[in-house]
Amino acid sequence: MQRSKLIRAVTAAGGVVIALATLYSCRTTNPSLTMGDAASRVYVTPGQHDEFYSFMSGGFNGQVSVYGLPSGRMLKLVPVFSQHAENGWGYNEDTKPMFQTSYGFIPWDDTHHPKLSQTDGVPDGRWLFINGNNTPRVARIDLTRFETEEILEIPNASGGHASPMTTQDTRYLVSATRFSVPIPNKDVPINTYGQNFRGTISFIRADQPGKMDIAFQLLMPGFNYDLAHGGKGVSDGWFFFTTYNTEQAYTKLEQGASQNDKDFIAAINWKQAESCVAAGKAQTVPSRYAHNHVDEKSRTAKHEMKTSVKMLNPRDCPGVVYYLPTPKSPHGVDVDPSGEYIVASGKLAALIPVHSFSKMQKAIADKAFETEFEGVPVLKYEATIAGEVQKPGLGPLHTEFDGKGNAYTSMFISSEIVKWKLGTWEVVDRIPTYYSIGHLMIPGGDSRQPFGKYVVALNKITKDRYLPTGAELTQSAQLIDISGEKMKLLLDFPTIGEPHYAQALPASLIKDKQVKFFSLKDNTHPFVAKSEAETGIKRTGRRVDVRMIAIRSHFAPDNIEGVQEGDTVYFHVTNIEQDWDILHGFAIMGNQNAELILQPGETKSIKWVPQKASVYPFYCTDFCSALHQEMSGYVRVAPRSPTLALSATTSRKAATQLQRSKAYKGDN
Ligand code: CUA
Repeated sequence: MQRSKLIRAVTAAGGVVIALATLYSCRTTNPSLTMGDAASRVYVTPGQHDEFYSFMSGGFNGQVSVYGLPSGRMLKLVPVFSQHAENGWGYNEDTKPMFQTSYGFIPWDDTHHPKLSQTDGVPDGRWLFINGNNTPRVARIDLTRFETEEILEIPNASGGHASPMTTQDTRYLVSATRFSVPIPNKDVPINTYGQNFRGTISFIRADQPGKMDIAFQLLMPGFNYDLAHGGKGVSDGWFFFTTYNTEQAYTKLEQGASQNDKDFIAAINWKQAESCVAAGKAQTVPSRYAHNHVDEKSRTAKHEMKTSVKMLNPRDCPGVVYYLPTPKSPHGVDVDPSGEYIVASGKLAALIPVHSFSKMQKAIADKAFETEFEGVPVLKYEATIAGEVQKPGLGPLHTEFDGKGNAYTSMFISSEIVKWKLGTWEVVDRIPTYYSIGHLMIPGGDSRQPFGKYVVALNKITKDRYLPTGAELTQSAQLIDISGEKMKLLLDFPTIGEPHYAQALPASLIKDKQVKFFSLKDNTHPFVAKSEAETGIKRTGRRVDVRMIAIRSHFAPDNIEGVQEGDTVYFHVTNIEQDWDILHGFAIMGNQNAELILQPGETKSIKWVPQKASVYPFYCTDFCSALHQEMSGYVRVAPRSPTLALSATTSRKAATQLQRSKAYKGDN
């Protein structure tokens, strides 16, 4: 490594001057000094910030977690598809609608691929998208709030794995089905797979917040669609999808789907698809799917069901799909920063094939077709291939780029990252990972302008790397320096869930755009109370609504009487603070539900069904002030009594108001 570069990198990483003397001498062979170098590269001085935000999928925890790089410090867990009792996500009335699907309320999913929004092919820091792999959905997280704001279900699909990849301007996200299914899905014998099962690729309009929708679906053969990347630069307008199981096996896939020497990359000309749809060549197919989104002003979610999609059969739109034969059961497909090279990682292949976009265009013009599959031309392998990386290692899965002409491929079986050169296809470096790497991630490494500097290995197995924690060990990422010729391991850090893919961008793109509090004045929540004067309690049959405020260090009202056995109580709590990071919580004893966590200026509602006549304390769960422990109150629940009036009081006024029941203004 050039010393000047190293110093720049260290300075930027916050390791600063103290490291420099060590750095110089670390070029000797003393191993402890070498580790000192690594330590200084990842050391973020207390009080300093990391250089990058990285976003990792939580895998089977259904969430996204946010880490600072290079420190590997976890900053936040952003709940997405799984209920999160920590802040009431999916438990409170305002976020329950986010979990609605055509299958009803689904409180869990399996997140795989975070994807940053882009402008002109470069991450722009507006949004992060993430897929739900099980009940196919895509979500949009707003990066000024680090909150999930929108979830769209994907109909006519099962297993949204090749999802959600974006066009270079974020006009569309794609989501392809991993498991082919009958369309429409109905009761058919599984051994009619060949006749009845199909795949779909959904193009989702994604650049209009609150209005995500399926623009159209492509009806595809009954393969398994694994991963995707959008074209960029010269290949903007195209999308590339890996397929496996072109054998169309429906049982014992580990053998059945591994017969063919080559499967396909499906190259999709989405601009062509768009014009065919505009020309009326798509069918309108009845399909029920959910669209859920958080209203910006009320901060409460709305759920709607959509009823149809436009479905385009490639037969009705010549030129929309071409198949590129690719060895063997390819998993990742990655497009280099120029858009010219399409790298496929055949997990059972002994080489890495790289297709050329310009050769593909020529092959299409020359009709260099090997055959056809269901009306779709299959291009000749020799006609599209730019080169092959020979003997890269075993089990290539994914490739990212550093923007300096190098590609980095993860090798699951040989447990390493292999660095090779675009154009010459020669392997120039390799580094072991601990152990069994899945995805890898370079900040911006799948964009037109990689930010480079590091590659993060997302490992599937950790074995002996951490203190053991029973039968299940932690998941792990490893941070590797790629600023020099040779890769260098800097840091192991544990991760939660099972991160599949990740994305990262410079912190400077988003850190100054953070929402600090929500404007109370603009709060349009139907049950908001903007001051103590707007609080109150109201009975509607067996339903009781309590409007409450939280402010350092009390709730108002804090004494509630007149609730009866058999009532259902909704607490609508507004945090009326207008200060950054002043949160309050709300929890009540015996609630078969979660707590609320209230960000400054927001209102949330939680349902409580008291079990029996008794007195129930409630309290603030977020340590908000020196008098946090005093922030509490009581609800008195009486046996059923038609004449008993409600009362809601504050302790400071308890003496005068205990008998007065105050109904709040207006009906909701
Ligand atoms: Cu409010 Cu603790």
